[in-house]
Amino acid sequence: MEPNFKSGTVWTGDNLPIMRGMNSDCIDLIYLDPPFNSNANYAAPVGSTAAGAAFKDTWSLNDIDVAWLDLIEGKHPNLWRAIQAAMCGSDKSYLVYMAARLIEMERILKDTGSIYLHCDPTMSHYLKLLMDAVFGRKNFQNEFIWYYGGGGASKSRWARKHDVILFYSVGNKWTFNADDVRVPHKWNEGQKRADGSKRSEKGKIADDVFQHHSVIPWSKERTGYPTQKPLALLDRIIKASSNEGDMVFDPFCGCATTLVAANRLNRKWAGIDLSEKAVELVDRRIRNDIPLFGGAICRTDIPQRTDLGSIPKYNHPDNKKSLYGAQAGYCAGCGTHFERQHLEIDHIIATKQGGTDHIDNLQLLCGNCNRIKGDRGMEYLTSKLGV
Ligand SMILES: C[S@@+](CC[C@H](N)C(=O)[O-])C[C@H]1O[C@@H](n2cnc3c(N)ncnc32)[C@H](O)[C@@H]1O
Ligand SMILES: [Zn+2]
Repeated sequence: MEPNFKSGTVWTGDNLPIMRGMNSDCIDLIYLDPPFNSNANYAAPVGSTAAGAAFKDTWSLNDIDVAWLDLIEGKHPNLWRAIQAAMCGSDKSYLVYMAARLIEMERILKDTGSIYLHCDPTMSHYLKLLMDAVFGRKNFQNEFIWYYGGGGASKSRWARKHDVILFYSVGNKWTFNADDVRVPHKWNEGQKRADGSKRSEKGKIADDVFQHHSVIPWSKERTGYPTQKPLALLDRIIKASSNEGDMVFDPFCGCATTLVAANRLNRKWAGIDLSEKAVELVDRRIRNDIPLFGGAICRTDIPQRTDLGSIPKYNHPDNKKSLYGAQAGYCAGCGTHFERQHLEIDHIIATKQGGTDHIDNLQLLCGNCNRIKGDRGMEYLTSKLGV
């Protein structure tokens, strides 16, 4: 499916409704570096180019929407169970927030696509459960380690010096250009193998640990944006897991490291970030990097899907029939059994939040549950998540 947006687009806004507006099966590679649930609030140093950029990395029930729970519990039971495995309320809230977004990423990726989820050991074990539930355990390809070294260290434990990047394919065919990311042998040039044969001059196939310092204060690429990732890291990922002309997408693009790297490698690209400061930086960085490019296409609107032309309106009787079968006649809210005529078709995610008429976004509710749906408060969330 063709994307319903242009290459070079950067949105300012929450990535969830924006991704909901994107066509299915139109992206080749997603790299995401979301907030980590690290209990930190990041802010750029005053006076840096990025001053004013700040984002929250602490989570509570206030960050999640009841409708996301309906969607996950009703349509993605494995994902629901994976979230329940988390220990505390803050972790569960974070995972619900991530789960709602990973569902969209899986949908917009092509069957031959790949996804790299950048996280750190604080949450990587829980995020892997989520990725297994959304992409399938058999599609797990690598735990790619970015070892950055440097900086301070505590004497109470081994120094924490790596991030974890979970690499999944969508299906059983994916791009991996192993030859484009070969690394030099440790051996001297010309040194032979034990059996006398010559080693490949092209270097060896890269392994799953990538060593590269983080963006240091005096580095040319530094924008001052908190958590900026090095271009070298994205260069490797994009070279290996996409081809020229492919669409690369970063839903938490920060200061656009992924987008700049994709552009330099002749890939198409698009990104989203919540922070207005981030989008300003993206535009400036892209203009400076590729003078002829003329800057990014900056948007704030939710795109309109163009791949839904042939699906019926939400209230089509066929939808009611299928949903009644799928729910075995039970209301998706209170769980009471009803005759078909007493159940109403409901959009799980409201259309103004980017929800569609697709049956994946529909459920049957009894009249009472449908009326109180919007008024369910904290108590409901607390009881659902068991926190
Ligand atoms: C860890 S940073 C990404 C840094 C990026 N990889 C770079 O090299 O600059 C996470 C980013 O996610 C953004 N963010 C957080 N929640 C978001 C949301 N719901 N939608 C879009 N962006 C979001 C933050 O503003 C922040 O820029
Ligand atoms: Zn009900």
